[in-house]
Amino acid sequence: MRPIGKGGMTRWANFGGWADKGEQDQHNCNPSEKHQPTLERPRHEGNGFVCGALDASLPCVLMANSDSFRLGVLGSGRGSNLAAIADAIGRGDIPAEITAVISDVQDAPFLQHAERLGIPSQFIDPGKYRTKLDDAAEQAYIAALQLARVDLVVLAGFMRILKGEFLRVFEGRVINIHPSLLPSFPGLEAWKQALDYGVKYTGATVHFVDQGIDSGAIIAQETLPVRDEDSPESLLERIHSAEHRILPGAIAAIARGEVELQGRRTVRQNP
Ligand code: GRF
Repeated sequence: MRPIGKGGMTRWANFGGWADKGEQDQHNCNPSEKHQPTLERPRHEGNGFVCGALDASLPCVLMANSDSFRLGVLGSGRGSNLAAIADAIGRGDIPAEITAVISDVQDAPFLQHAERLGIPSQFIDPGKYRTKLDDAAEQAYIAALQLARVDLVVLAGFMRILKGEFLRVFEGRVINIHPSLLPSFPGLEAWKQALDYGVKYTGATVHFVDQGIDSGAIIAQETLPVRDEDSPESLLERIHSAEHRILPGAIAAIARGEVELQGRRTVRQNP
């Protein structure tokens, strides 16, 4: 049995080393870049981090609280799950801070969400492939997440397959939200797959990411009935609502050290 969350874990050295209490992270945030935190942005602590206008001549400094559990969130699309995570942190439901938000899509609403929320965010070019990161991009993603010293990488609609080196560096520390009840309907447009198949129930799944497609150990699921009158859009809307409940809940449980992996099953320590 291996505790996954912070409660029982020693932070992993290969995440780039850890700050002592009160250490300041020099976050690479040139205010002239579109998706970086700006020096003009007011001091903001609501989402678990502090980015303040300390001195216009200095780079933006994130005050890292080494006691908190750090999240890196990757996405390519709308960013509604990112917003749900940030809201849950703001309400005090997740004992964590978001220290990195990264997208492979430069103009993704996902990044605009982060910007609006005052969360440090950046576009990192995914390179020449359509469905995965090329080697240089993979290194850049790893470096950015290490710089932000993340404890957990959350894939919130990140539309690229992560394998090899990325999963080795963040082994057991990457989770994904998927819009079906896995193992049914892995892959793209899972809600449409479910509707076309004719299942009477579908839902959403939070799972650890392994080398397969949507095949890692399941952390949380919520079931939804498929209604006779459902269209792909109406079904997806209800699935999204379920995602916004179970993803923050799963992150909170991991951050509290309540999730243990037993083989390919996860169990809750303090359900
Ligand atoms: C979600 O439906 C999630 O299940 C899938 O991508 C979508 C992301 O939505 N992996 P959003 O960008 O969080 O709104």
